[in-house]
Amino acid sequence: MLNNYIIRYHPHFIDMRYICCKGEGMQNYIVTVKNLNKMFNNFTALNDITFNVKPGDFFGLIGPNGAGKSTLLKILYHLVTPTSGSIHIQNLDLKYDYRKIKYNLGIVPQDDNLDEDLSVLENLTIYSMYFGIHRKKSAEKSNELLDFFNLNEKKYSKVSSLSGGLRRRVTIARSLINDPDLIILDEPTVGLDPEYRQNIWNKLQLLNKSGITILMSTHYMEEAEKLFKNMIILNHGRIVKNGKISDITLNKKTLEEIFLDIAKT
Ligand SMILES: Nc1ncnc2c1ncn2[C@@H]1O[C@H](COP(=O)(O)OP(=O)(O)O)[C@@H](O)[C@H]1O
Ligand SMILES: [Mg+2]
Repeated sequence: MLNNYIIRYHPHFIDMRYICCKGEGMQNYIVTVKNLNKMFNNFTALNDITFNVKPGDFFGLIGPNGAGKSTLLKILYHLVTPTSGSIHIQNLDLKYDYRKIKYNLGIVPQDDNLDEDLSVLENLTIYSMYFGIHRKKSAEKSNELLDFFNLNEKKYSKVSSLSGGLRRRVTIARSLINDPDLIILDEPTVGLDPEYRQNIWNKLQLLNKSGITILMSTHYMEEAEKLFKNMIILNHGRIVKNGKISDITLNKKTLEEIFLDIAKT
C-alpha cells in the first residue's frame, strides 16, 4: 500500500538497491565512511570515523550532546567539509559528486529550516524546484506526502502557526519530495511529546519497510532500541560501539545503561 506513496518518477532517479558500493567482504553498501576526521581549529570534532550502511538499513547514530552527531551528518549532506577521510554515497564520491548524490538523498536537519511565511503545501512544492521536478509531478507528490503524514488539514496553514510535532512532519515530508532511496535525519523527535514521537516512529518504520534506507541520530535510547537495526555510538568524536543492539549490549546491560556509562566518560 505504501508503494502508492513512493512513486519513482524522477528523471535523475537511479535505483540504488542495485548500484551500491562494493566494500570489504563484497557487501553492498549505500554509505561508506572511511577514516573521517573533522577539526574545528584545534578541536577534534570527529576522530577516525569508519562505518558502512547497507541498503534497507535503519541505521542509528547515537551519542550524548556534543559527541559529533550533527557534524557527521552535516558532512554527509555536504554542509560541512571534512578535514580528511573519504565518503561514498550510492557509489559516488561525496567530494566530487554531491550534485548527483542529492537527487537521491533526503535531508532532515536538526534545526528545521522551513519557510515560516509559506503554507505547508508551498514549502513542499518550492523545495521540489531544487530538484527540477515538474510542477504537475510536484503537486501530485506533495499531496501524497501530505496524505501519508496526515497533514491534509494543515495544507494551506502557514508553517509559523504549526506546533513542533507538525513542523517535524512537514520537514520529513519535504525530505521525501524527490523520492530518495536514502534519508538522513538529525534527532527528528527531539523535544516532542511522546504521542508525536510515536507518530513519527510509525511513519519512519513504514518508510523503511517500503525500502528506504534511513540514517538517523538520537540521544534517546528508547528510540534507538525501537528503531535501529544497526548503529554506532559516538562519544567525543570517536566511535565507541558499533553493531546491532545485541552486539553492543551482549545481553548484559541495557542500551540505556551502556549509554549512561559512555556519557560519563
Ligand atoms: N562550527 C563549529 N565550530 C566549532 N566547533 C563546533 C562547530 N560545530 C560543532 N562544534 C563542536 O563540535 C562538537 C560536536 O558538535 P555536534 O556535532 O553538534 O554534536 P552533537 O550533534 O552530537 O550534539 C561540539 O563540541 C561542538 O561545540
Ligand atoms: Mg546535534
